[in-house]
Amino acid sequence: MARVLTLTLNPALDFSISLDRLQLGEVNRTRETHLDAAGKGVNVARVLVELGHDVCVSGFLGADNDGPFLRAFEALAVEDAFIRVPGETRINAKVAEADGRVTDINGPGASIDDAAWQRLLDWLDARAVDPRKRPEAVVIAGSLPPGISPEDLAALVARLRAADLPVWVDTSGEALAAAIEAHPSAVKPNEQELAAWACTPLTSADARLAAALRLYAHGVEEALISAGPAGVLWVSRRGAWQALPPRLDVASTVGAGDTLVAAMLHGVLSGHPPEQVLRLATALSAESVRHVGVGDPRASDFPQLQQQTRVRRLNDVDAGGALA
Ligand SMILES: Nc1ncnc2c1ncn2[C@@H]1O[C@H](COP(=O)(O)OP(=O)(O)OP(=O)(O)O)[C@@H](O)[C@H]1O
Ligand SMILES: [Mg+2]
Repeated sequence: MARVLTLTLNPALDFSISLDRLQLGEVNRTRETHLDAAGKGVNVARVLVELGHDVCVSGFLGADNDGPFLRAFEALAVEDAFIRVPGETRINAKVAEADGRVTDINGPGASIDDAAWQRLLDWLDARAVDPRKRPEAVVIAGSLPPGISPEDLAALVARLRAADLPVWVDTSGEALAAAIEAHPSAVKPNEQELAAWACTPLTSADARLAAALRLYAHGVEEALISAGPAGVLWVSRRGAWQALPPRLDVASTVGAGDTLVAAMLHGVLSGHPPEQVLRLATALSAESVRHVGVGDPRASDFPQLQQQTRVRRLNDVDAGGALA
């Protein structure tokens, strides 16, 4: 079991609404509604807990509507180290219609001021030197709130790396590009996020591999690329590996990427052989798409899903990111 800290800088409450058909400009009657604590770091924490780890969650939460988060953290038995800021955490609406169409309406999030940012940095500095609480890895997942720039994220990554902490980052756009310059231990872009960083469309498996090798040569120790049903590409000092998940009926892909990040970190921290690390993580992320929410390692057919996942070693990778 490892101690892991997840940071969600811009969490949200997900307001899920299901109805027959959305009538724009009309009064609509819902079939069902849910208000759930969400955010990528919170999802990563859920999976890590299921895989047996000791997890602390932090980031920023609006003080006025943190109830659903408090209940979720209590149910998960994770340590709540979120910094409370004045106001409310944003509420993202997800409108699901009977025909399967889903409309997302996302808010930008509450603005974080310098004082709140400094509180988080001070708390992280103290954690890094606390012998009883120092994490074995830090995961930074999701978008940045207003007030926090990509440069702030890069400085945060550099600060944690200077404290000798492994840092895994899952974000997109300018935030991802800035974080990569600070040499995080791992990143997990999907195809679109990687294409934006590489400034080139990644239409073929070869193009994806070339971009992953570039990430590795750039100083990212674990370059993880996810490509939905086309699986996962992993470039590290262990070589270049590829995994193809089994075909499954998709109910919701939300949380698949978070499941993959958490399960890869689990395997790497546990020191498992690379083939096993990638097989479990790919199968668990695939498991997550069959239902709403993150992957469930206790699903009765999870051993079969792992067997049906195809894992292949592509080749050795040298320090410069070239295939041997
Ligand atoms: N349709 C699918 N069938 C099987 N496995 C899937 C499917 N979609 C996703 N996965 C699994 O989940 C992993 C992550 O999915 P994806 O590439 O969509 O991540 P993402 O875009 O980062 O998702 P997120 O919305 O969580 O950020 C994939 O690499 C794959 O292993
Ligand atoms: Mg993602």
